[in-house]
Amino acid sequence: TPTSEIRKGLAGVVADHSAISKVNPETNSLLYRGYPVQDLAARASFEEVAYLLWHGDLPTSDQLEEQTKAERAARALPENVKAAILELPAGCHPMDVCRTAVSQLGAHDPQAEDSSPEAELAKALRLWAVMPAVVALDQRRRRGQEIVPPRDDLGYSANFLWMTFGEEAEPAVVKAFEASMVLYAEHSFNASTFTARVITSTLSDLHSAVTGAIGALKGPLHGGANEAVQETFEEIGTADKAVAWLDEALASKRKIMGFGHRVYKKGDSRVPTMRAVLGDLVEHYGETEVLDLYDTLEQAMGERKGIKPNLDYPAGPAYHLMGFDTNIFTPLFVASRITGWTAHIMEQRASNALIRPVCEYNGPDERQVP
Ligand code: CMC
Repeated sequence: TPTSEIRKGLAGVVADHSAISKVNPETNSLLYRGYPVQDLAARASFEEVAYLLWHGDLPTSDQLEEQTKAERAARALPENVKAAILELPAGCHPMDVCRTAVSQLGAHDPQAEDSSPEAELAKALRLWAVMPAVVALDQRRRRGQEIVPPRDDLGYSANFLWMTFGEEAEPAVVKAFEASMVLYAEHSFNASTFTARVITSTLSDLHSAVTGAIGALKGPLHGGANEAVQETFEEIGTADKAVAWLDEALASKRKIMGFGHRVYKKGDSRVPTMRAVLGDLVEHYGETEVLDLYDTLEQAMGERKGIKPNLDYPAGPAYHLMGFDTNIFTPLFVASRITGWTAHIMEQRASNALIRPVCEYNGPDERQVP
């Protein structure tokens, strides 16, 4: 029986069980399958975290080796999908490229309509493995650079950076990038994950669910915030201008991107780790100004609104320092979150119920067609 209480944005509504991650806003903690995310970021590879999200436990060395082999074998973008991406307008948003690429990959996938657990896992792995090629290709085509094919002698992150920049990244950069991938991988029933689950609940296919999730992630209230943070930093310029900028922005009721969260009200559990990663990058590149701006804006926002940064706040400037174009930041989020999305797709399918809420009608009363 429908209840009459309406929760706008489904805020606080418990929609289902999930064993994939636990967000605890009271303690600012986030666990993936029971492991604190900051410990995974410090001690596990992104490949191990992908395995953990899909299978429920960290891999043994044999299991990791098998997954690594499959991942490296699936890194190259099929020629037809590559050609389709190259046809897209140079001015379209890179998230449109991701969305289109996943849709195309689905249309070409021989197991597209097979939703057995084995096929779902194989498709999830292939999609995860190929996404770096999509993102790297897109940044390079926009820069007018030649496409760099994947290498199978490098780990996930090192290969991602190799394909994007055409040179081997230094270990400190690989480490920072890897940590960001781990931190972005999974976050319970956020908007894009819920979208993927809604689509899966109709018994639609995995690629459709991921395509829809990418659409949800694109928005600036969700994944698009990491790009918006970098734009904000560029708009402000230097730390000495941050407070005046903030006062004016708040006076004109602007949302400050990279701050606030639907679930965490006392601070995002992933921020301290990513802030430390940003600190390491700043040291590596010798560019300290960004931290002054970062800290000044954070402090001023805390004093004025009591609102804390979310993961996108340190991630935006970190990706900028690594050399990514700003409009590629949200596709980087996609590359990581594909692991969490597909884990949820598999979980939804394993105990499915069609997701179909109801609403309270508030349109005109019944009337006659003239
Ligand atoms: N800047 C200014 N004011 C804010 C902000 C912000 N970033 N976030 C919340 N507020 C204010 C909001 O205006 C409201 O004030 P009032 O009660 O006076 O109307 C109050 O705080 C409560 O905010 P809300 O919008 O009702 O909270 P919500 O749970 O619906 O929104 C949010 C969460 C993430 C959409 C929001 O904080 C926001 O728009 N943040 C900026 C965008 C952003 O950084 N998004 C990334 C989210 S985390 C990563 C991810 O999941 O992708």
